[in-house]
Amino acid sequence: MQTIAVLTSGGDSPGMNAAIRSVVRYGIHKELKVLGVKQGYEGLLNADIEEMTLSSVADIIHRGGTKLLSARSERFKTEEGQRKALNVINIFNIDGIVVIGGDGSFRGAEALSNHGIPTVGIPGTIDNDLDYTEYTIGFDTAVNTALDAISKIRDTSTSHGRANIIEVMGRDCGDLALYAGLAGGAESIIVPEVPFDLDRVCNKLLQGRNRGKLHSLIVLAEGVGNAMEIGDQIQEKTGIETRATILGHIQRGGTPSGRDRMMASQMGAKAVDLLIQGEGSMVVGIKGKEIIAVPIAEALKTKTPIDEKTYELADILSK
Ligand code: ADP
Ligand code: F6P
Repeated sequence: MQTIAVLTSGGDSPGMNAAIRSVVRYGIHKELKVLGVKQGYEGLLNADIEEMTLSSVADIIHRGGTKLLSARSERFKTEEGQRKALNVINIFNIDGIVVIGGDGSFRGAEALSNHGIPTVGIPGTIDNDLDYTEYTIGFDTAVNTALDAISKIRDTSTSHGRANIIEVMGRDCGDLALYAGLAGGAESIIVPEVPFDLDRVCNKLLQGRNRGKLHSLIVLAEGVGNAMEIGDQIQEKTGIETRATILGHIQRGGTPSGRDRMMASQMGAKAVDLLIQGEGSMVVGIKGKEIIAVPIAEALKTKTPIDEKTYELADILSK
């Protein structure tokens, strides 16, 4: 292994920069040449590649977004696109690749490794939706961004005695809603993994009112439905004035938390070590305190289930 490349792909997440920094600086420490690919797989196809130095990653550990930029590449999903990428990989003498991204990006990494290119994935997504790892880079920052908004909405919810529904990201995974909802003291948390029951949400809201609660917070994961529509349904059923807020892409940016920077730094180094050791079809993650490595194919097999115990706890604590 002499030359490795690093790219960020799919939805960005806070901490991706810290992961790039780790791959570059640890790679150079191990006497590798490290190349940076711009705009994910799209940049690989376009040969948008430059050599990284210690100073290319200076002053980025605390920044959201990704210095290497990200993209979604439909072309790379095709056999023809992948052949073109292999050509570029050969021209640049790339011996191994580190892909930082979510499950879609890992499928791309799997495709590269099936074509004989040693590739290692680092989980970077605010969704925390990869079952093989307890944590994905960006989740903690996104939870805290959502929590900050929820706490502010709680103030005005109390002042006006309204119900407020807050839509957070998460198409198929309710982790962000669950964590931000529990930590924010939401009365109801609506996630894609649990069938949506409008009557249950409304009854809980009314029970709260009966015992004198002024505010009502409902946290909704985007995959279940639209906050405006569900808010209207709640208002119609309960007669309680309801407002809806969609947090959107503010959850994807911002300065990464300490946890995200730590995870990114440790996982970046592990990914480089795996490539050096010739373990070229793996993804890194964390179990307990240990940074782990799992074959890509295995990592993509199962979907993350909702943590039922924590989901029940959120319900009990928000009575
Ligand atoms: P994320 O990594 O955040 O889940 P996406 O699902 O959009 O984001 O995937 C990012 C990119 O990964 C896609 O635009 C595509 O280039 C690549 N990709 C996704 N699925 C595949 C696949 N089955 N084969 C090859 N590349 C894929
Ligand atoms: O995968 C991360 C994620 O933030 C999802 O929660 C969300 O549904 C999606 O990306 C939105 O991505 P974009 O707006 O970039 O298409």
